[in-house]
Amino acid sequence: MDRSAENHMLYSFASLSEVQQKGATVIVKGEDCYVWDQEGKCYIDGFAGLQVVNIGHGRKEVVDAVYQQMQELQYWHSFFGFTSKPTVQLVEKLAELLPGNLNVSHFVNSGSEGNDSAFKIVRAYFKSIGQGGRYKIIYRDKAYHGMNMGATSANGFANNRAPYEPLVPGFIRIPHCHCYRCPMDKEYSSCNIECAYALEEAIIGEGSDTVAAFIADPVQGSIGGYVPAVKEYFTIVREICDKYGVLFICDEVITGFGRTGKMFGIEHYQGVEPDLMVMAKGLSSGYIPMGAVVVSDQIASVLAKGMFAHGYTYGGHPVAAACALSNIGIIERENLANKAAETGAYIAQALESFLKYPWAGEIRAKGMMFGIELVQDKVNKKPFPVEFAKSILDLARDKGLLLRMNTGGNSLLLCPPLTMSKDIADNMVAILEEVIVQTAESYHYKA
Ligand SMILES: Cc1ncc(COP(=O)(O)O)c(C=O)c1O
Repeated sequence: MDRSAENHMLYSFASLSEVQQKGATVIVKGEDCYVWDQEGKCYIDGFAGLQVVNIGHGRKEVVDAVYQQMQELQYWHSFFGFTSKPTVQLVEKLAELLPGNLNVSHFVNSGSEGNDSAFKIVRAYFKSIGQGGRYKIIYRDKAYHGMNMGATSANGFANNRAPYEPLVPGFIRIPHCHCYRCPMDKEYSSCNIECAYALEEAIIGEGSDTVAAFIADPVQGSIGGYVPAVKEYFTIVREICDKYGVLFICDEVITGFGRTGKMFGIEHYQGVEPDLMVMAKGLSSGYIPMGAVVVSDQIASVLAKGMFAHGYTYGGHPVAAACALSNIGIIERENLANKAAETGAYIAQALESFLKYPWAGEIRAKGMMFGIELVQDKVNKKPFPVEFAKSILDLARDKGLLLRMNTGGNSLLLCPPLTMSKDIADNMVAILEEVIVQTAESYHYKA
């Protein structure tokens, strides 16, 4: 048997010896919310690949747009004032779609590159306006903003940072926002949203003239376990940023392009406008890799005065831009943000019925993002060992459902394509319930 998949590849976030022992899964085909492996087994893609495929798999319209662009111009770059036609159309489209004054895009190939670019842009911006002492980036505990050195330095999970230290200097961590496990040990709303005011404390503590930016995602992602911030949170942190002249970088890598039931996650917080927005994943639904950092007119006007010494060979790739345009066309035409809100509410309601079980600590939902926090005991909220969630994922996979757990292993995460029908959603929830109950029973734990 050919063992290339096991012997010649270093897998991300996997133990290679475990992959070698269990075997790799080679996915060969996808259609809407389903994918197939090379043995012909069909799975419900309950995680849209890696929270990517918002429009579902196998959309011929996108494939045709990519093919057509390939025939015309298969590569060009965005250095030295050059660009290409679809890339220009895409910057126009993003300026039209994005809130506030976010009108100037810089293209990259991933969310990590987008966030790294954002960190460099805010530092360059402050140097340009004579405030070069402002270089620090404040991020939240349990944050995941990607894996290059900048984003790793803003990672809120020690195991993701430790192997790579020393990291980039100037990254400051504050508590995150999660009422079920409040880091301040308070109750909502008598807490007065102290987690948001932790930003102000950090700015004052560090010295406001040293802080460049605050980065946060509207729903804290794969480490946090899909935790939406409380409704006051982003209004407060925006006000704090304004008060101290700190820029707000909004990481919409997962939450962008309809995922949360609005085009962008930050739109759930009325009147809150980021200074920079980072996107990837749903921008192209992953048919071709693409990301972007979009900056405000104010930032762009400052950067415009000097040389912007930053960029990637494949940034603004015309084929990726054609792909993104076609993908956004589908999201708009099929109203996938509204559909995500509607199907998301339907799925959330079904998942909430899990609360009857002793292992269901908290059910979190925002649009088509769902976190199921598993506890051994509802009163003391004691988490299971990580093997519990792992066993659930393995059993779900056997039964034809792909999902994943958060990095800490105490929550199961669902993030399916936004196109998912209610029938498939019913099936997904039924499989999930069955596998959790079965796993809980095998842990001598009566469901
Ligand atoms: C919120 C968030 N930001 C950034 C990233 C990094 O994106 P990429 O893996 O495309 O570099 C991710 C990846 O999952 C993410 O979830």
